[in-house]
Amino acid sequence: MSDEKAVTKSAQADGATLTKDAAPGETLLKVTGLKKHFPIKKGLLQRQVGAVHAVDGIDFEVRAGETLGVVGESGCGKSTMGRLITRLLEPTGGKVEFEGKDITHLGVAGMRPLRRDVQMIFQDPYSSLNPRHTIGTIIGAPFRLQGVEPEGGIKTEVQRLLSVVGLNPEHYNRYPHEFSGGQRQRIGIARALALNPKLVVADEPVSALDVSIQAQVVNLLDDLQEELGLTYVIIAHDLSVVRHVSDRIAVMYLGKIVELADRDLLYRTPMHPYTKALMSAVPIPDPRRKNAKSERILLKGDVPSPISPPSGCRFHTRCWKATEICRTTEPPLLELRPGQQVACHHPENFADQAPQDTVLLSAAKEAAELVADEVLAESAATSAAVAAEVAKETTGTSEAAEASDTTEK
Ligand SMILES: Nc1ncnc2c1ncn2[C@@H]1O[C@H](COP(=O)(O)OP(=O)(O)OP(=O)(O)O)[C@@H](O)[C@H]1O
Ligand code: SF4
Ligand SMILES: [Mg+2]
Repeated sequence: MSDEKAVTKSAQADGATLTKDAAPGETLLKVTGLKKHFPIKKGLLQRQVGAVHAVDGIDFEVRAGETLGVVGESGCGKSTMGRLITRLLEPTGGKVEFEGKDITHLGVAGMRPLRRDVQMIFQDPYSSLNPRHTIGTIIGAPFRLQGVEPEGGIKTEVQRLLSVVGLNPEHYNRYPHEFSGGQRQRIGIARALALNPKLVVADEPVSALDVSIQAQVVNLLDDLQEELGLTYVIIAHDLSVVRHVSDRIAVMYLGKIVELADRDLLYRTPMHPYTKALMSAVPIPDPRRKNAKSERILLKGDVPSPISPPSGCRFHTRCWKATEICRTTEPPLLELRPGQQVACHHPENFADQAPQDTVLLSAAKEAAELVADEVLAESAATSAAVAAEVAKETTGTSEAAEASDTTEK
């Protein structure tokens, strides 16, 4: 305990971060319409022939003291989003505000004070540590880069940080290769904490580690948050890593946020079909969900290319509920229930937003073949199109009537 307090105090003493400005629950980071398009260039003249729409207009905020989990399949723009909000990348459009200050296009000098407040932990603890430097040098680097002399000197401070993350301070002079993957990730965490940051963005912090070690590192992050009052954005490709530590979870698909909700709401009543599919891919040990319909939902095909994303709702090529409106009109991210925003015309667990659109796209019918009947029946309860399809397939008229009945709810 005293170690962590000392870290906080010494970083403050040298004038680094005097106050934790945003009170718990207040907005620390705000993102509006954020975009990153990577240009694709061809030929001798390197003419731009297109762009990868890696992040394509996202809005969210991070509240002081919370953990925001960000999940989505590979290539959906999670890392790009992380690099945009830590301003390791220059946004193509939109706005990033930190503690109310517009930091969207700050240059190197303008960003310098902010570099203390916002830190990033990377996925790969093997490549993110320089093999030629001792861990003392690695963890002490932020002090040198920022020209900060901690009270008691850098070495003492680094040793204190080592013990904070559960490593032996005596190992100050060892090299990264002398540590295991989990220990290396602890070194990365110690380096990120050196300057007493307010926001830590962790990009898949445990996915390179053995499953047995993952929980230890996640628990360490959790403990540090409590003791140091940190705010986290934790990126993961599935829900198993973030489900226990997140207060809220953002689900990304092809450069967009499709659902953003309080953790419990997302688990209890996911609204976006993609969220439901992601959740069905995670084994659920929770006994309370034993009887819940958690049949695995297989998604048709791969994620489409972010170079020319599908029109309307980007998920319409793989969604078993897609109708014409999904192909033509992009659904806005709306707070349909307090604490739960979703971008979908025919959400799960909520009233159909386009009940007049009752004909499934042919892609949706193909996608439905991979979805368990129980899931389809659930979907039919909130989608007129799925209900009509289910009704068509059932032979008995009474069943058909029942299916269309459920859409009225
Ligand atoms: N520097 C770059 N230049 C061009 N395209 C890029 C660049 N960085 C990322 N991309 C592309 O942007 C898209 C989003 O990539 P990103 O790494 O953000 O996804 P991700 O969700 O983090 O995926 P993963 O789970 O595999 O880490 C991908 O199609 C990727 O190929
Ligand atoms: S129902 Fe339509 S809007 Fe909703 S996820 Fe499926 S395709 Fe997108
Ligand atoms: Mg990534």
